[in-house]
Amino acid sequence: MPNRTLAMVMYISRSAPTTSRPDVEKVVAAARRNNELRRVTGAMMWTGRYFVQVLEGELPAVIATHKLITQDTRHHAMKVLFQGELESRNFSRWSMAFVDRPDADHLIEPLIEGIQDAESFRALRRMLFDLAMSQDPGGDRH
Ligand SMILES: Cc1cc2nc3c(=O)[nH]c(=O)nc-3n(C[C@H](O)[C@H](O)[C@H](O)COP(=O)(O)O)c2cc1C
Repeated sequence: MPNRTLAMVMYISRSAPTTSRPDVEKVVAAARRNNELRRVTGAMMWTGRYFVQVLEGELPAVIATHKLITQDTRHHAMKVLFQGELESRNFSRWSMAFVDRPDADHLIEPLIEGIQDAESFRALRRMLFDLAMSQDPGGDRH
């Protein structure tokens, strides 16, 4: 049953210069709507200059969603930091958790330049995981 394999992708990208807060709100709304249908879960961070996103779900759904996202002109210069199989979901309560983190630029800059900065990668991953742990979806659809 290879199609039931759970997969995860984590990437960073540059926000397009024209991408503003209302654009990002639209992205998050579309992501939540579509991911719910595809049973994709994850978390996203926006710094104003960069995006960081984790997508997880069944392999074909993650591939399809990731492909769609790569074609989106609201960001560019995407760099996949991690992709692989997953034992179980980390963001099962979230079709897409979201947070603004203008303070995270310095963690993303070396990675977007192609520098293998394991410390920054771990710090970013921790931020996304902490986000999903700290926020309560409650009755709202996330
Ligand atoms: C940084 C970023 C992250 C995105 N994340 C997702 C996502 O997780 N799921 C998704 O379906 N679309 C995501 N999108 C939006 C897609 O690129 C696309 O615009 C959207 O899925 C189209 O949905 P619609 O046809 O319902 O408008 C993302 C876009 C950007 C720029």
